[in-house]
Amino acid sequence: MQNKVSTIILSDNMQTQKVLRMYLEEFENYEVLPEFSDYLEIYDTLLSLDKSIFVVDISNNCEIKLDFILKISKDIQNCKILVLSDNPSVDLIVRVMRAGAKEFLALPVIKTELMSALQNINEALFCVAKRDSKCKIISIFSNKGGIGKTSIASNLALELAKTTKEKVALIDLNFQLGDITTFMDLKPSFNISYMLQNLDKINDDFLLSTLEQYKQTSLYILADPPYFKQADDISPRQITRLFEILKETFSYIIVDAESSFDAKNIAALTESDLIFLVTIANLPALRNSQRCIELFDRLGFDRNKTQILLNRYMENDEVSAQDVENVMGCKIYWKIPNNYFTMMSAINKGIPVSDVNPDSNVAVSYRNLALQLADNIYRDNLIKKFTNIIN
Ligand SMILES: Nc1ncnc2c1ncn2[C@@H]1O[C@H](COP(=O)(O)OP(=O)(O)O)[C@@H](O)[C@H]1O
Ligand SMILES: [Mg+2]
Repeated sequence: MQNKVSTIILSDNMQTQKVLRMYLEEFENYEVLPEFSDYLEIYDTLLSLDKSIFVVDISNNCEIKLDFILKISKDIQNCKILVLSDNPSVDLIVRVMRAGAKEFLALPVIKTELMSALQNINEALFCVAKRDSKCKIISIFSNKGGIGKTSIASNLALELAKTTKEKVALIDLNFQLGDITTFMDLKPSFNISYMLQNLDKINDDFLLSTLEQYKQTSLYILADPPYFKQADDISPRQITRLFEILKETFSYIIVDAESSFDAKNIAALTESDLIFLVTIANLPALRNSQRCIELFDRLGFDRNKTQILLNRYMENDEVSAQDVENVMGCKIYWKIPNNYFTMMSAINKGIPVSDVNPDSNVAVSYRNLALQLADNIYRDNLIKKFTNIIN
């Protein structure tokens, strides 16, 4: 059995200290050390420990604590840091992560969230490799609405399901303003909020019966919650946990991400293997996309994780594809042609573009994009199929 991990809590708030200590002691795997009066003492103690966790509340004296976190993360490899704050902003989360913290939680602390953060920390501390999941999470993102995200997410997800016959989950993260149910003409019985309330009960059967299966395909849809209040109750950590669970059952997760840098959305983007940054060929859209790339850089995302998807492409556009690449400083991954008539007809009827006209330039483009993405799994299946035929 694993030894208890020595844990130091630093918080200026007595109540937070107390609650953290109580939860940590309840979890049993952690030995909470007595309170320390100064940073040097904490530093020396952490340095002397074989493996340790430093839980630090930065609601007060934020700057000094961020410097301290940076020092610990640089000097003491065997100490993993969990940061808490009562004022979580994107900027702060970025700074905390850059300082080397492993996890971030908003205060007041929620027991289940603390538990799952500690689980991640434990895996890092004991180098437990996460189960190598075959699942690919692909987020369709733009920080502007009306650019074609939902059209792409819904059509691409369906084409992936048809192409690969693998289970594909399509998740609407546009809390309260989601369009996927309209685009796909669905009235799902359950939504993401229900799923998150039942995270502890979830297994394969629960998932497949809760997500809405699209017609007879292997596409399953998880809709946005219908009430604002429900959306507010959702935390970034729950989103991360939801993805961890979905990964066990699905081969692909396509996320219609929100057009914002809200912490929930950042959690989804962080979990993603691939982010399609959707843009169109005009300068305001390109400037916005540049800003997104800058933020992704600050979040420490690998450059290859974000790929440009040029929507509504026209060969004779004033701003050419080459101009787009010059402005963005990278290659365009895929171009989806402009076809307002087919797209609108699909949306108005609540059907995918391939049902409006499978030979239309947009339907062909989505199909080919799905084929390109369905690399490993699809090829593996084909190889298996052919080997069976040959044998
Ligand atoms: N390839 C395309 N060609 C022409 N119009 C498109 C294309 N993709 C999307 N649109 C149109 O753009 C509008 C916004 O699309 P939508 O998918 O709702 O964007 P978002 O989810 O980013 O707000 C819709 O009217 C849709 O028909
Ligand atoms: Mg949308």
